[in-house]
Amino acid sequence: MSECFFLASTNEGKRAEFAALLAEHGLELGASLPYPEVEENAGDYLGNAALKAAALHSELVRLGISATVFADDSGLEIDALDGAPGIRSARYGGVELTWPQRRARLLAAIAEVPAPQRSAYFHCALLAIDERGRRYQGFGETRGSIVLAERGEAGFGYDPLFLPDGERRTFAEMSAPEKARASHRARALRDLVAAMGR
Ligand code: IMP
Repeated sequence: MSECFFLASTNEGKRAEFAALLAEHGLELGASLPYPEVEENAGDYLGNAALKAAALHSELVRLGISATVFADDSGLEIDALDGAPGIRSARYGGVELTWPQRRARLLAAIAEVPAPQRSAYFHCALLAIDERGRRYQGFGETRGSIVLAERGEAGFGYDPLFLPDGERRTFAEMSAPEKARASHRARALRDLVAAMGR
């Protein structure tokens, strides 16, 4: 039976991506377990990932489950906006916005920026805590640019706006396996699994 890693996230887009990515490493995604919500106020991606992983780790200990937990904190950094939305990616424009509204807000913020200057990248930090309480980290980035208008229906979050370098399709125009090949999350997981010696 393959080893189970529990992810501290209820984001279905992330969970689906991680389930497929973990399988490539011979690992399985554990069931979504409720854990006390944490305020993501660490100030950087890795710190926020650590807060989420620690919250789920405590919950597993409380339930008597001995397993590795991990958390992802990720975001989109746009050079013309000095790195915004960055660690505030999930809340950009206000928590009350729907995703179509949030993407529209972002497109409006860079409407005057010409195509060659619309460079951006996705960043992902992962923090894992194994069954013995040891901590590991992994990082991944994907560089690209922001398109002029939404393209594609797949994926989640900012996927319809992000065109990875060297590609003609946005993340939202790619199939899940295609996105996985180029994604910051896949790179960070590879880095994490290597750090864990799995
Ligand atoms: P987190 O859940 O606090 O890590 O927030 C990360 C946010 O960054 C997500 O809600 C998305 O808005 C955005 N994001 C991170 N990775 C991706 C991706 O692969 N595609 C699209 N948006 C992403």
